[in-house]
Amino acid sequence: MLASGREILTRANQQGYAVGAFNVNNMEQVQAVISAAEQKMSPVILQVTQSAIRYAGLLCLSDLVKSLAEKSFVPVVLHLDHGTTYDVIIQCIRSGFTSVMIDASMFSLDENIKETKEIVKVAHACGVSVEAELGEVSSARDGNVADGLGAGYGAMFTDPVQAETFVNATGIDFLGVSIGNAHGKYKTPPCLNFERLSEIKALVKIPLVLHGASGIAQDDLKLAVKNGINKINIDTDLRQAFGDGLREVFSANPSECDVRKLCGRAREKMIEVVKEKINVCGSTKMVL
Ligand code: G3H
Ligand code: 13P
Ligand code: ZN
Repeated sequence: MLASGREILTRANQQGYAVGAFNVNNMEQVQAVISAAEQKMSPVILQVTQSAIRYAGLLCLSDLVKSLAEKSFVPVVLHLDHGTTYDVIIQCIRSGFTSVMIDASMFSLDENIKETKEIVKVAHACGVSVEAELGEVSSARDGNVADGLGAGYGAMFTDPVQAETFVNATGIDFLGVSIGNAHGKYKTPPCLNFERLSEIKALVKIPLVLHGASGIAQDDLKLAVKNGINKINIDTDLRQAFGDGLREVFSANPSECDVRKLCGRAREKMIEVVKEKINVCGSTKMVL
């Protein structure tokens, strides 16, 4: 069933586990995530970015997720990932998203509060949950190096006191934090700052979100959950699995052109990765 982000993550926060938030762009990826969640009997978050919307179309993605969610016995949250414009966020709310992210983390604290508050007001009036981000989660994409050290690599760790101010001023439901995590493929293993994470959690009681969770060691992800992370965002590892599936079929038959054979194998590969991530989140059998 389609579920509220706030309900799913509040329960995760109370019971000390995380829910995986998986980026999807097409039918096979949506099916893979929901099928893995069903096999693990886990709640799940399917998220789309603005570039996914540009690629597939909002109607196509939202109808796909909503119709498969309605037929599923696991709670499925439909979430906008890294929303940066008011218009896209409103369009997603109108399309039936149950959760949205406003990412104004690139602005000053005051500007971030102002933009986030505006979204919270309208989203909450529609019963939609809101995630926002404070601190800068850098990108390991495009050849950038991200090793979790923060300074010098473009990452600005979330300040715990600022986080408390931000959450109280905006009324958001979940907060994305910067603790050495980065989007994309890490060149060297990331070294998360767990002390900073627990300082944030001590002041901010709402569910915390770890972006850029692909490539982070399983034990570190488990430690992050133990220290207050309740939503784990995964994209790159899914792209890798999907690509591996396609390459496997092509290497067996370079002229293969049946999209069902190609994408079918990619979907199988993705299901395995999503199941592994759900295990790490600790959300298996967390369906009521
Ligand atoms: O954090 C966001 C995504 O991993 C970036 O994905 O290429 O769909 O914008 P995108
Ligand atoms: P990765 O691509 O590094 O897994 O990051 C995903 C993410 O943070 C989506 O918001
Ligand atoms: Zn992200």
